[in-house]
Amino acid sequence: MRITLDNRLPADHAARALRADAGTAFTERPRTLPPKWFYDAHGSVLFDRITRLPEYYLARAEKQILRAHAAEIAELTGARTLVELGSGTSEKTRVLLDALTEAGTLKLYAPVDVSDTTLEGAAESLCRDYPDLSIAATVADFETDLPLPGAGPRLVAFLGSTLGNLTPDQRAAFLARLRSVLTHEGDALLLGVDLVKEPSALIRAYDDDQGVTAAFNKNVLRVLNRELHATFDLGAFDHKAIWNAEAERVEMRLRARVSHSVEIHDLNLTAEFGRGEDILTEISAKFRREPLTEELTRAGLPPTHWWTDPQSRFALLLTTRT
Ligand code: AVJ
Repeated sequence: MRITLDNRLPADHAARALRADAGTAFTERPRTLPPKWFYDAHGSVLFDRITRLPEYYLARAEKQILRAHAAEIAELTGARTLVELGSGTSEKTRVLLDALTEAGTLKLYAPVDVSDTTLEGAAESLCRDYPDLSIAATVADFETDLPLPGAGPRLVAFLGSTLGNLTPDQRAAFLARLRSVLTHEGDALLLGVDLVKEPSALIRAYDDDQGVTAAFNKNVLRVLNRELHATFDLGAFDHKAIWNAEAERVEMRLRARVSHSVEIHDLNLTAEFGRGEDILTEISAKFRREPLTEELTRAGLPPTHWWTDPQSRFALLLTTRT
């Protein structure tokens, strides 16, 4: 058996956790939702389309860096196990898998994601293309559960600037957990982060001409309707991508076009929206080299390598435990 799939999220997890998240989120102002709720089956397909949009340079820039340095990463880490947090379709991971297979060290690929459908599809396709590789997929929420199967040295890849979806507090807690599981000498972290740049380029990346990101953002309302028996009208909200200059992050918001109320049956709640009132659905922090290096060093994960694409839009960092 070359593929195993460990589903650590119980069948009713989505409904229960979403009830808890939405319960707290809807008492704050602006109402806030954790971005993981975007990724139901439909949202995962939309995100995959986002990664191929001309405006969404992040995925291409990261893949470009991976291509340029995969062989070096393979040599530096000698990884036997590649763990990937928030693996999605594992598309760009192929660059790493190719290099680690070429180097002859890799035995196991262990993707972790909240989307079971995406994970299954990715595992099957990789299994066909990498005949000597074992795959141990885990459905889990890596913010609360960090499964690290396999033998060392392990390389943990956390790509796509998903780190930016956490607030600074959540980030500190997450990095501390990560540090505590990277226990063996030679274990390493490969981190992909988007960099601060001209705000107009950032906003375009989150507000594309075809409206795919708008559909992705609004899909979270469909998730709420389905999981919590809510009555959100997707047409009653506008998609907004805003640059928060102080926090240096892009914020995705859903802005009520008119004042109206929404029933959320499973929360026993009627949410009143004023005209122009927002739901904050995602933060996407952008990073700078010095402060991020300091933050990682404080967390016990000092980066040893920092690579960017030729236009310095995106960075890939490597931390190796000694
Ligand atoms: C890959 C989850 C980090 O914040 O850029 C893309 C998600 N949101 N377009 C990001 C996303 C809107 C993406 N992450």
